Amino acid sequence: MADQIITGIDIGSSKLAVVVANISDEEEQPRVMGFASVPSAGVKRGQIVDIQRVTDALEQAVEQAERMAGSKIDHAIVSVGGPHIESLNSNGVVAVTNPHAEIHLDDVTRVIDAANAISLSSTRQVVDVLPREYVVDGQGGIKNPTGMTGVRLEVNTHIITASQTTLKNIERALSDLGITIDGFVFSGLASSLSTLTETERELGVALVDIGGGKIDTCIFAEGALSYSCSIPVGARHVTNDIAVGLRVSLESAEKIKLYLSKQSHKTDHDGKPRDEMDITDLHLPEGLTSLSFKTVVDGIIRPRMEEMFSGVLEHIDKSGYGTQIPSGLVITGGGALTVSALESARRVVGMPARIGTPDYITGLVDEVMYPQYATLTGLLISAKQQGERSSRSGMKDFDSLLRGFTPKISFKKITDMVKSFMP
Ligand SMILES: Nc1ncnc2c1ncn2[C@@H]1O[C@H](COP(=O)(O)OP(=O)(O)OP(=O)(O)O)[C@@H](O)[C@H]1O
Ligand SMILES: [Mg+2]
Repeated sequence: MADQIITGIDIGSSKLAVVVANISDEEEQPRVMGFASVPSAGVKRGQIVDIQRVTDALEQAVEQAERMAGSKIDHAIVSVGGPHIESLNSNGVVAVTNPHAEIHLDDVTRVIDAANAISLSSTRQVVDVLPREYVVDGQGGIKNPTGMTGVRLEVNTHIITASQTTLKNIERALSDLGITIDGFVFSGLASSLSTLTETERELGVALVDIGGGKIDTCIFAEGALSYSCSIPVGARHVTNDIAVGLRVSLESAEKIKLYLSKQSHKTDHDGKPRDEMDITDLHLPEGLTSLSFKTVVDGIIRPRMEEMFSGVLEHIDKSGYGTQIPSGLVITGGGALTVSALESARRVVGMPARIGTPDYITGLVDEVMYPQYATLTGLLISAKQQGERSSRSGMKDFDSLLRGFTPKISFKKITDMVKSFMP
């Protein structure tokens, strides 16, 4: 794979972020060259509700990132999330055609084709397809069956779909800026690429990205992505609750929330967080100068965090993989930094939990190594992985293959796609 400049764009409910990086065979990790993040506008629960506002805000971020990287952005890999995201696992079975029962690429192609023959409404589009495992003559857990001997080949794929309207709106906003979309990646999947360890993925884990307006969840069980969803509630609800509870504006409530998160590790002599807090330095227009840590955290923030994790738990139960995720929860996104987030997760879900901070990238990373950029940095890792797959299979444009993918995808496309998944 030759040196390539790639761009990731995360259209979040709280911020719009752009990252430019270099990927090459020589370097294992994408090398960040440019980055910018601006407050979001025109996005609710991960979905665009005002294209013009998104385009205007994004233009600033794109220009800043271009200046820092010293290169023009004309194509990008883009995150997509929100309650319109759905996932399913699909099975396919075929008979191996080779008389010596050796499995060839054609058989793998046919079996993936069989698994992907799902009926999808015309308003939906596939954004990610990940083979979970192959089964040869009843023996499961196989990652690459080519060259193996068998007469019956099965595959299980994880398919993530999104609303076509949402994708079209994102395309519109970016095309107004002269940017072509190389591919969409579910934001939860992108976050899992930048924060999870290989061991967690192998053992079983739930990635929970708490953004401003949505919570993206990806459950890895049996060594593969097995369930994906996006819930329409996020850390902005905590801000709203503080505003209502303390009768202050949303701006003041946000300041208080961030202040409390910063202060939560400061304790009194007895090891408990200080209760009465002096917030004069926040200069709130409402004139509020002190507050009780306990009242705000226990009375307002914790109940909302617990409610959010109850929502996550419902999905874990619904997925059927609840007993197969011993690594517990990895919580990321800006909301992971909310005071009491980890305790609430452990208490409500009853599993171990840790905060996920982006990793696996290099270069100018000081500004992006924070949970709120897990999706953004994950887009770079996804682009690098896809670039490697494409160069192995001799394909130029892997992303465009999955983009516009329909259940009636052509046999040739499937063959190319299968080649690209081969290690
Ligand atoms: N240090 C912090 N302490 C507490 N909360 C924080 C902190 N930093 C950010 N947040 C909160 O995180 C939220 C934004 O998270 P993030 O940037 O991941 O959202 P987003 O990706 O824009 O939104 P979404 O993914 O929902 O579309 C905001 O509600 C913000 O208040
Ligand atoms: Mg996000």
